[in-house]
Amino acid sequence: MNSSTRVLENHMILDKFPPADEFYKTYWGQKPFVVRGAIDPALFEELIDGDSLAGLALEEEIKSRIVMTAPEGGKWTCEHGPFEEDRFETLGEENWSLLVQNVEQYHTDTAKLLQEFHFSPRWLMDDIMVSYSTAGGSVGPHTDSYHVFLVQGMGRRKWTIGQAPAQNEDYIEGLDLKVLKGSVQGEEIEVGIGDVIYIPPHFAHEGITTQEAMTFSVGFLGPKLSELLAQYGHYLEQMDQGNKHYDGAGLDVESAGFTPAPGARERIQNDLINALRSDDFSIWLAEYFSMPSHDDIDNIDTRGEKISNQDLLERLQEGKNLYRPEHIKLSMTTSQDGTINLAAFGAILPTSPAHDQLIHFLNQNTALSIQDIETLGDQDALMTLITHLYNQNILFFENEALDL
Ligand code: SIN
Ligand code: CO
Repeated sequence: MNSSTRVLENHMILDKFPPADEFYKTYWGQKPFVVRGAIDPALFEELIDGDSLAGLALEEEIKSRIVMTAPEGGKWTCEHGPFEEDRFETLGEENWSLLVQNVEQYHTDTAKLLQEFHFSPRWLMDDIMVSYSTAGGSVGPHTDSYHVFLVQGMGRRKWTIGQAPAQNEDYIEGLDLKVLKGSVQGEEIEVGIGDVIYIPPHFAHEGITTQEAMTFSVGFLGPKLSELLAQYGHYLEQMDQGNKHYDGAGLDVESAGFTPAPGARERIQNDLINALRSDDFSIWLAEYFSMPSHDDIDNIDTRGEKISNQDLLERLQEGKNLYRPEHIKLSMTTSQDGTINLAAFGAILPTSPAHDQLIHFLNQNTALSIQDIETLGDQDALMTLITHLYNQNILFFENEALDL
């Protein structure tokens, strides 16, 4: 053990996820933690297994990598998919990992893991990356630019976790993988099934498998400013109204020639600020964060055969529950007059103030029963939105095959 590495102190180990207010105040972006047994081991039976993960890595459009641990004095290697099936036969029993991104989009049952993370900012979730690793398997010491919950499925892994954001990150040159030159200075912990580690952005970490393992990395990454400005600009362009020309009003002699004078610059800045402070921006923001993070699959088809409010109500009254599959992102923002803008699949949904309680309910819950509906307000108004959500493939009956 490195002299500055010590076994994780008990105050870092929590026996359950912190309450949401404490999570944001103390941990989010600031401090790693580990929760022992946070997830019921039975849940992992529904999530992707190693064989199906290898199956995804054969697909052209799915991002996958095989990383081989550097032997003593040797080099790390990283190969990118898609892989041929027989590639897995030649890898041996040790020292490699397979990592696949956006798994919640391709194996939607894996998204069920997200029901454990309702306290997190789900609208910022980027993807679930899943790794299968053999003993000795690792991606090396590194930092990530995103927040991540490392959820341990089967097997065991030993992690070393930095206790502060890394300064002057120094990576090994010439690799197709970002591996820090030095080992991680931090605290050590071995995890098993159901344990969850939270790592804030830029905190160094390294996991080494001690027993054939599956790790589910739930990652949160915000967009870049350039992406936000470009996308909002595109929205304004499509809307047209509000997308006015800068009209040069109030210019004076200082702006003669090629000089946009300070007054002109201020006018332009104010036009931009007003556009960003408008309700259009709140509406666009809801649409933006409800977009699937990766447009890899066409999951935005509406149902071929539409159901009526009455038929849907009858099925609910028969005791059937509706649920929202966890890989479908909802997003809600509030306009200045208090109107809630609810969006899914990048489009605003037709809501009214009568739906406010239902919207808040859907923000925190996955399943919806007739008993819930009875407590959430005027039934006719609610059924109009619920039927719309059902016909848009946002709500499903339990055990109904996802028609994607
Ligand atoms: C892994 O599962 O090996 C990589 C997860 C990570 O460190 O981000
Ligand atoms: Co990482």
